[in-house]
Amino acid sequence: MFKYVLVASALAAVSSAYNLLTVCNNANFSGNCVTWTGNLNTCYGVGEYNDAISSAKVEGGIVCRLYRDGGCKGAGPLITGPAYNLQEQNFNDVTSSFYCYFT
Ligand SMILES: *[C@@H]1O[C@H](CO)[C@@H](O)[C@H](O)[C@H]1NC(C)=O
Repeated sequence: MFKYVLVASALAAVSSAYNLLTVCNNANFSGNCVTWTGNLNTCYGVGEYNDAISSAKVEGGIVCRLYRDGGCKGAGPLITGPAYNLQEQNFNDVTSSFYCYFT
């Protein structure tokens, strides 16, 4: 009985999660990369990728704003597709948090 309750809540969590932002610590999507899954309209910290992200991309109608500081403070570029080199936006190795939403 208890087992079924746990399965149901796990499925509910998956159905509300999106692939938000893919980042890599080198330009051109090389080096170490991660795709974060989570909720839209929510601020997330980048954890071990703090001040290390050099390329970033989104997909499926989602866009993500990058921020210089934790807690989505210090607005940076809006990622709307593949950003091969964040140096072009003066944001190489700067990102500390991000916030994604549907356009
Ligand atoms: C990214 O790839 C392009 C095209 O191959 C290349 O011109 C550029 O130098 C690369 N940038 C970096 C920082 O590796």
